[in-house]
Amino acid sequence: MANYPELKGKVAVITGSSKGLGRAIGERYAKEGMSVVLNYRSSEKEMEEVIRAIEAGGGKAVAVKGDVSEEGLAEKMIEKAISEFGKMDIFVNNAGVQVEAKTHEMEFDNWKKIIDVNLNGTFLGVRAALKYFVEHEIEGNIINMSSVHEVIPRPGYTHYAASKGGVKMFTKSVALEYAPNHIRINAIAPGAIDTPINEETMSDPEEKKGLEALIPSHVIGKPEQIAAVAAWLASDESSYVTGTTIFADGGLSLYPSFGPENK
Ligand code: NAI
Repeated sequence: MANYPELKGKVAVITGSSKGLGRAIGERYAKEGMSVVLNYRSSEKEMEEVIRAIEAGGGKAVAVKGDVSEEGLAEKMIEKAISEFGKMDIFVNNAGVQVEAKTHEMEFDNWKKIIDVNLNGTFLGVRAALKYFVEHEIEGNIINMSSVHEVIPRPGYTHYAASKGGVKMFTKSVALEYAPNHIRINAIAPGAIDTPINEETMSDPEEKKGLEALIPSHVIGKPEQIAAVAAWLASDESSYVTGTTIFADGGLSLYPSFGPENK
């Protein structure tokens, strides 16, 4: 489905896009007529499959291998966008990880890994994109993948919640800093979406039922529903939107315990 004609010919960079939400955003952007630079950390086979799927649909995609928490990857992706497609219009900081651990038992390395990928990786992507946009006087667009856990506390994943809370305030602060340059920076906060990150929950019928019960709409989201938000944020339809988080969560962030079913 192509809804935004103005996106045709634009170029997007999307981190962590060999599967899950990053893949869905890449596929949706390609359907809108955009060229995409994708990124994978280890699985070349998975990445090739995504590129083949995009090309089969008539889209253009290339990939760069690398870890978002390492300095230099974001710049490499932008260089690839320029060498392959001549420019970069939209940078999506999507890559993210989570590992469960009780806080009093959490290895410092575990804490650092989550902050490194989810928060430091976002900083590195935003910095590289801003540098390119400012130097070339481009009114660019940056989208950061946050989570409902930028506002909902998450026991067992306190480092994840801290990283997404950080993404929220970083997004707002940087949006304010670059509003005079007409560079828009927003975040998306998905609720529970059916991607490989939730494989364990989704493959256990009892856990899946429990998760559905927790969501006010009782529906687990699809990656395409998040990609639709990323398409709208990239489009001119959201041209006056900056520094905000769009929640796409079936109502998960609405204090479900106050819902009509709990009266
Ligand atoms: P996923 O695990 O299915 O995919 C994550 C992608 O990021 C993969 O392609 C993986 O290879 C890549 N990645 C991980 N670490 C990386 C690194 N250091 N460098 C480069 N790439 C790396 O996860 P999913 O669900 O697609 O998540 C994408 C984003 O959405 C994450 O930031 C996650 O926190 C966020 N999110 C997901 C939700 C969900 O329910 N699926 C809910 C809320 C937020």
